[in-house]
Amino acid sequence: MITVSINGKTITVKNKCTILKAAKTAGIFIPTLCDLPGYSPRSVCRLCLIELEGRQNLISACSTLVIDGMKIKTDSEIVTRNRKIIMEFILAEHGECHNKNCSLKKLGQKLGVESTRFSTSPLLEARDLSSEYLKINAHLCIHCDRCIQICHDRKIISRAGKGSFVTMIFDDNCRVDESSCVHCRDCVEVCPTGAISYY
Ligand code: SF4
Ligand code: SF4
Ligand code: FES
Repeated sequence: MITVSINGKTITVKNKCTILKAAKTAGIFIPTLCDLPGYSPRSVCRLCLIELEGRQNLISACSTLVIDGMKIKTDSEIVTRNRKIIMEFILAEHGECHNKNCSLKKLGQKLGVESTRFSTSPLLEARDLSSEYLKINAHLCIHCDRCIQICHDRKIISRAGKGSFVTMIFDDNCRVDESSCVHCRDCVEVCPTGAISYY
């Protein structure tokens, strides 16, 4: 067993436990977007950054294993400030969303972020309504990779492009109705933004 301190609270957890899991065990909230329980961490959203004594940079809680004696802060001023800026960038990626129940916007509000000062280049071809099972609105995508992970066995969804032009594609960038998607809708269930949804 390993003992760590999170926000001054002493916590004992098993070996090979991530900081995120340790915090959850202790009832301490760390926001996440790309983390998908049961899958290897992708660490792409950076929302779970925390402060670790002895380290200059903030580190991601979802991909860092606890080490005995670690002193972790999840609610310090520097963590809160950076988290808010990251959330603003994520909301910028999310684009114009009209969903009043958007879980991403709700998470932003929980973190004290209602809007964003940033903007991203709009994708030219953002919607794919070709399938009668799945609707795609790439404008809303924040590139968290959860859909890629959940569809890992079939490998139907992947990333294409770079920087602000990155987008999720089906097979070799074909329309959804022409892809080998079997309409299990697992990707819809894990998408935090509604970029993939169903009718
Ligand atoms: S609906 Fe199922 S098979 Fe189709 S892309 Fe999503 S996860 Fe993959
Ligand atoms: S479509 Fe949804 S789950 Fe997939 S990367 Fe975009 S936001 Fe994440
Ligand atoms: S949840 Fe850790 S980087 Fe996204």
